[in-house]
Amino acid sequence: MYLGARTLKTKFENDFLIGSAVTTRTIKTHQEILIPHFNSVTCENEMKFSDIHPEEYKFVFDKADQIATFAREQGMKMRGHTFVWHEQTGGWIFREPDGSTAPVEKIYQRLKNHMQVLMNRYKDTLYCWDVVNDTISDEANSLLRDSVWLKRCGENYIDKAFQLAHEADEKALLFFNEYNAAVPFKRDKIVKVLKGLKERDVPVHGMGMQSHVNIYSPSVEEYKQAIEAYASIGLQVHITELDVSLFDYHDRRHYDHAPEELIEKQAIYYENIFRLFREYSDVIGNVTLWGVADDSTWLSDFPEPNRKNWPLLFDDDHKPKLAFEKLMQL
Ligand code: GLA
Repeated sequence: MYLGARTLKTKFENDFLIGSAVTTRTIKTHQEILIPHFNSVTCENEMKFSDIHPEEYKFVFDKADQIATFAREQGMKMRGHTFVWHEQTGGWIFREPDGSTAPVEKIYQRLKNHMQVLMNRYKDTLYCWDVVNDTISDEANSLLRDSVWLKRCGENYIDKAFQLAHEADEKALLFFNEYNAAVPFKRDKIVKVLKGLKERDVPVHGMGMQSHVNIYSPSVEEYKQAIEAYASIGLQVHITELDVSLFDYHDRRHYDHAPEELIEKQAIYYENIFRLFREYSDVIGNVTLWGVADDSTWLSDFPEPNRKNWPLLFDDDHKPKLAFEKLMQL
């Protein structure tokens, strides 16, 4: 089938890369969408710490290798995701073999080894890494999340993670990745931390705005202010995990079929946000969707278990949705 300019990657070829989070399953089951429309991929889970490095002396590369091979064969770029996170990280990194707490230097030594092994193995395919993920607190009175990394290593752990990643691969673009990064309350905290990193000459190159959003918020104006704020610190921006839920976070309604009016709202949301991304294409290098099509999305299980959601650009039958058509008309 000749799709010509009616593909996402062609439509935005002068603006930014178009990415998708994939699994070893979806690179097969969703190939007919991935190959024509996307020129960047991210492993949804396969490069997370506990998946790829479950024990100190055990790496499990098989799944990540399959995805990297797919990217290489298709000439796609790949984002590395993710090194330092409070979830999906094996507890072993923080412990001595006898169960006691490992000293900070040992934790950093292990992190360094982890980064070196991964960055070296996927050097030819990965062009950037999310070095730290979800480090900012959602609480009003604290800046950093009260995570296991903060507890074990102290506030310096973010600086250290970037320094170690830079030592492991000087060429990789290093990102600070965060959710709700367009929400003013969170944006201001992120800016504060990023400015500190820059002042201390920590090698951070980009801001990853995850963008698990919904059809009601955040607004285009909030996005614009956030992109400008991150760019003004001298960082490039990647939209790293975009999906547009049909539900506000507190809305726990269930539907058998996606209501038409919500699909229309979603299309308008995608249209407006991509128009803005395009206006800022000089600072935005990659726009990655968190999944390929609505038949496979984490949002059909979160925040409400077993509640079907339809957050992506292709439907359950892998057909382009109204949102896709709107993007093609931009
Ligand atoms: C966070 C992580 C992602 C993914 C999503 C939810 O944003 O960065 O890797 O786990 O949550 O799927």
